[in-house]
Amino acid sequence: MAVRQSVPCSRGQAKVFWASNRGRRGRSLPTSGRSRLRSDPTASGPGTTPVKPYSNPRPIPFVPESGQEDPRPGRRGVRASGRIEASFVGGAKGRWKIESVQAVRGPSLPPAPRLQIVLGPRHGPIRAAWVLRGVTSHERYVTRAEHERLAASQSPLERPEATRAALIPIAKSAEWWELSQDERRSIFEEESHHIALGLEVLPAVARRLFHGRDLGEPFDFLTWFEYAPSDAVAFERLVARLRGTREWEYVEREIDIRLAR
Ligand code: HEM
Repeated sequence: MAVRQSVPCSRGQAKVFWASNRGRRGRSLPTSGRSRLRSDPTASGPGTTPVKPYSNPRPIPFVPESGQEDPRPGRRGVRASGRIEASFVGGAKGRWKIESVQAVRGPSLPPAPRLQIVLGPRHGPIRAAWVLRGVTSHERYVTRAEHERLAASQSPLERPEATRAALIPIAKSAEWWELSQDERRSIFEEESHHIALGLEVLPAVARRLFHGRDLGEPFDFLTWFEYAPSDAVAFERLVARLRGTREWEYVEREIDIRLAR
């Protein structure tokens, strides 16, 4: 069911694209709080954005706030801090067709036919089934050597041949966030080999990691991947392997959204 949702607005103009971010990359609420998705029409109470009537007749607006955008060529949409904020909007329009939505763990999202990715801090009122927000951030778990390997083999987003995509929002449990940084790194890589496994599908799969936790979003992470149809099998194998790792024992909510364009 489509839900009319109001998202706080900063300013106008539509702009939807992926900016190049090469070289830079990413409280446990009680389950009741987390599951109260902003788009959930049944949600109520704290953490729920009130649903207001659609009142803005303009196209979905997006622009990074004036003066905050990095002026260097190829860095459109990237704020001076290097961070990229994005809203993933499930609704009637957008470049990506939503092919499937699978709730892997926890509740799903309301159905929507298309996905629009709107870059920028916030946008005006829009008609959407759901809106998930995230921001890129610094690396937490990557060693220098891993960083170099990733940088050497990663692909840019928006390659013409990459007509398949996956948006996988993930929330981890209170137990995960109560661990220390070195304990998390140890589970993430020494035990689960997340980076080593991921490197096996590079450069075929392009990726970007957004963080939602510090924005008060229901998902700690919005993970985004683009690949060609011929690389879909390799991507599926990677997802299956990651879901079998010790790291995934700490995943308490996950939705697997597949897209095509
Ligand atoms: C395509 C190959 C992949 C590569 C190269 C890769 C690499 C990475 C790296 C380097 C990080 C750590 C970022 C940091 O240091 O903060 C990371 C984090 C993460 N990745 Fe992947 N990844 C891949 C695929 C996936 C897939 C398929 C999923 C979901 C099914 C996924 C979910 C996550 C999540 C949730 C995090 C955040 C973990 C945390 O901070 O607790 N990744 N990934």
